[in-house]
Amino acid sequence: MPRHAHPKGPTAMPTPPPPLAGTTTGPTALRPLIDTVLTALHDGAHRRDGPLPAGGPDAVTPRIRTATHPLIPDHGTGPHHALRTLVTALTEGAADPADPLCTAHLHTPPLALATAADLAASALNPSMDSWDQAPAASALEADTTAALAAEIYPHQPTPDALITTGGTEANQLALLLARERNGPVRTICATTAHHSITRATWLLGLPAPVVIPAPTGVMDLAALDEALTRLHSPHRALLVTATAGTTDTGRIDPLADIADLCATHGAELHIDAAYGGPLLFSPTHRGKLHGLDRAHSVTLDLHKLGWQPAPASILAVPHRHHLDPLHHQAPYLNADDDTEAGLPDLLGRSLRTTRRPDALKIAVTLQALGRTGIADLVDRTLTTAHHLADLIAETPTLDLYDRPTISTVLFRPTDADDTTVATIRRTLLTRGQAVLGRAHTRDRLWLKATLLNPHTTPDHLHTLLDLVNQLANDLAEGNTPR
Ligand SMILES: Cc1ncc(COP(=O)(O)O)c(C=O)c1O
Repeated sequence: MPRHAHPKGPTAMPTPPPPLAGTTTGPTALRPLIDTVLTALHDGAHRRDGPLPAGGPDAVTPRIRTATHPLIPDHGTGPHHALRTLVTALTEGAADPADPLCTAHLHTPPLALATAADLAASALNPSMDSWDQAPAASALEADTTAALAAEIYPHQPTPDALITTGGTEANQLALLLARERNGPVRTICATTAHHSITRATWLLGLPAPVVIPAPTGVMDLAALDEALTRLHSPHRALLVTATAGTTDTGRIDPLADIADLCATHGAELHIDAAYGGPLLFSPTHRGKLHGLDRAHSVTLDLHKLGWQPAPASILAVPHRHHLDPLHHQAPYLNADDDTEAGLPDLLGRSLRTTRRPDALKIAVTLQALGRTGIADLVDRTLTTAHHLADLIAETPTLDLYDRPTISTVLFRPTDADDTTVATIRRTLLTRGQAVLGRAHTRDRLWLKATLLNPHTTPDHLHTLLDLVNQLANDLAEGNTPR
């Protein structure tokens, strides 16, 4: 038989194409498939039975290769088989942020309800680059971004926000908008700023940032004052980028003091609140963001302390017209006569063209939980981080870096050298026992726990510290970990 000939011969009825996810028939087609996916998620999680698979890449990669072989067969295996095989393999091999011992990064465990909403986004597949692809989704996005922008800039009449793929894109857009307002701005950031700031200057053809020391973990105000004085020039605008929730230690720069210095020296201010921004929802913790509303732009991620499946991020500005430089025309998407006839012009809401309706999962979460529900998630998570810090402080064999400002806790076994700390982290990873991050600060390497899981209990924290202590002991006794 020739390679592409139909197996049943030329007289057989052609098979219909696979069902689609939308219209009135989509849900019926989806239901059994979703059932298969949910079973595979369940089975894969059971097989893994921990925060990540044991054995490192040598064990994980071959299992995935087996599941994907052949990835493009001549004749397909059918939807249930492919979903079962690949979803089970992916789940078994996942680093699962919903496991309390998976606590390395700003890698959030998504809420079930947000994940369910994301399914609807995939089924309907609105594309946010023109109204005729997203009639309701564009209105939902406008309302969601307006509501989030109003949380950040409560005293401004027309705050606005763009949905982005993450803090990296939001920071890039912030620098782009500053450049469009002012020409080739000089950026000033602290050593603790996220690497995406430097990368954005490179991408946008701006001078590399002037980097201010952060000896206490936050931007040094005297050094900032000195830099703003030294760099002041009528020929070049300055943009300070501060961080509310640094990646390594979760500290918050002194936002109000930085805003004062910017005002004194005529500099603009961008605040990267990718991590810390959602503290706004908590009456207990929002005071830590005092000064946030004085920024010319703010990055805020909801796929970190907002429990959304990625991507879910915004760049907010105090005045809607600050987004005007992003206006762009492509006649097939936003022709003048369509816009004059009242069709919303969406193309200037992103640098992307095809774009998912990420606002849906965000809006569902905000409405389902309300302010108090989100505040409760934030408060629980921060309380858990303080509890972990307490436990470390009470353990004579462990050193605590500092009390957490948000939910990042750095620690290390007392007297261990940096190589031992790195070995402990990697051994926990390859044994599949725990996922901890690493941070180099105060000239030492630390283990980093970034707590984002509101279901973490004191027992989980004890288990985590026991694992670290046990390994540190073994290594101190000269045993080679496996
Ligand atoms: C402070 C800060 N800003 C920006 C980012 C980048 O965010 P994303 O990974 O969503 O692009 C991160 C990532 O961890 C971050 O910690």
